[in-house]
Amino acid sequence: MAGDYDLVVVANRLPVDRVEEPDGSTSWRRSPGGLVTALEPVMQREDGAWVGWAGTPGDPPEPFDAEGVRCVPVGLSEQEVEDYYEGFSNGTLWPLYHDVIVAPGYHRSWWEAYVRVNERFAEAAAEQATEGATVWVQDYQLQLVPRMLRRRRPDLSIGFFNHIPFPPFEIFAQLPWRKAVIDGLLGADLIGFQRAADANNFTRACRRASNLPARSGRIRLDAEGGREVRAASFPISIDFAALDELAEREDVKARAAEIRRDLGNPEHVLLGVDRLDYTKGILHRLKAFEELLDDGGVKVEEASLIQVATPSRERVEQYVQLRQDVEVTVGRINGTHGTIKNTAVHYLHHSYGREEMAALFLAADVMLVTALRDGMNLVAKEYVASRHDERGVLVLSEFTGAADELGQALMINPHDIDGLKDAILRALRMSPREAGRRMRSLRRRVGDHDVQRWAASFLQALADHHTTEAAVSVA
Ligand code: ADP
Ligand code: G6P
Repeated sequence: MAGDYDLVVVANRLPVDRVEEPDGSTSWRRSPGGLVTALEPVMQREDGAWVGWAGTPGDPPEPFDAEGVRCVPVGLSEQEVEDYYEGFSNGTLWPLYHDVIVAPGYHRSWWEAYVRVNERFAEAAAEQATEGATVWVQDYQLQLVPRMLRRRRPDLSIGFFNHIPFPPFEIFAQLPWRKAVIDGLLGADLIGFQRAADANNFTRACRRASNLPARSGRIRLDAEGGREVRAASFPISIDFAALDELAEREDVKARAAEIRRDLGNPEHVLLGVDRLDYTKGILHRLKAFEELLDDGGVKVEEASLIQVATPSRERVEQYVQLRQDVEVTVGRINGTHGTIKNTAVHYLHHSYGREEMAALFLAADVMLVTALRDGMNLVAKEYVASRHDERGVLVLSEFTGAADELGQALMINPHDIDGLKDAILRALRMSPREAGRRMRSLRRRVGDHDVQRWAASFLQALADHHTTEAAVSVA
């Protein structure tokens, strides 16, 4: 059965989450994370459908429009949320693909749920796509969908984009279902990754795990008449113009000034903005700041750190533990170094609207991005896009995808606490002239490579590849 849409995006999450209000009514809230930040402005301009989960267990709501996007919900039961979402997606794949920072769990019941739920997403996408449509599958939760979709609908042009890293084969090899995952992905015509290194890791996994002839980002499938799948990097980005404009608004600038006043106008404001996730290196950041306070490099009267941490995956064991560790650490730092007048770390376990985020970015002299591993890290790009005043210094982990592009940031290895402390001090002491020069170059890069360009180049590459392959199969 074919549907009406020429372009269908399939992602685990819809751009909005269903929220049950205390009075029993239902409302919608923007979903967390970088995938939604990036894709929402793209889909607002396209006349397509977005197939995804509405964020709560139970029967799915009817299709609806939100923020200018057609949303088609897929339902997950309580048990599937546990096994497919919290289990296989975020207890197995997420840690495995992020350098096994915590130990992945391997459970057959989680895998079975993953297969079943991927089938459901494939079915839902097939129902929305018109004859010959483009279906663009997103991220690690749905790696089997390309193959399942191709079986149902060989007429489609199928793209896949992996928002997170793809690990080196030596790590990926741990996965008991590694061949099935590779086969699932290879149902696509084009597989996009954040960095060239991720695309290389994938191509190597195809050779090593599945014995496929694969080189220079091309994987040949002899069992399918020599069909070729392309794997390449397409670094994702943000809607630069929209954020630039937002941060220029008078009310946002006034709010940034108010934030600094409310902090007691310290000389230095440092900022961290993350989902509360162990990949983000929040504890490493806090440790460096604590040591700077301990050894007098930074004084509590002069510097405040704001740490905004969006609640995330709150029932997954390692996230419960991380939250405890962060809260204990913040409590200790403030207990030791705070005064009646000055708080060292302002820890905010909330999510905020776009205006408030832009004001926070504008209020911060130093932005700390200390991820231990991150596919891209859009927060780094958002900070840059907000700084039309060409002020502020970005401290950036070399283990983010963004580090490949943002060479004028102060690069750090978050495991090297002394190096991180030195970089923070260097950022705090940097002359406005040097900071301005660096920020101008960063803004040029992000401004020239925004999310519209990312989507256009992926979709163009997909169309080109699909056309070439169709010509080969006819010949
Ligand atoms: P990830 O996708 O792993 O969460 P990214 O840095 O790529 O990491 O994207 C995070 C997105 O979530 C950014 O758009 C960021 O602005 C947004 N975000 C993070 N924390 C908050 C918060 N507390 N309130 C609102 N938005 C947030
Ligand atoms: C990252 C992932 C996304 C995910 C987001 C939020 O950006 O790449 O796929 O949606 O985090 O995580 P959540 O588990 O809340 O969807």
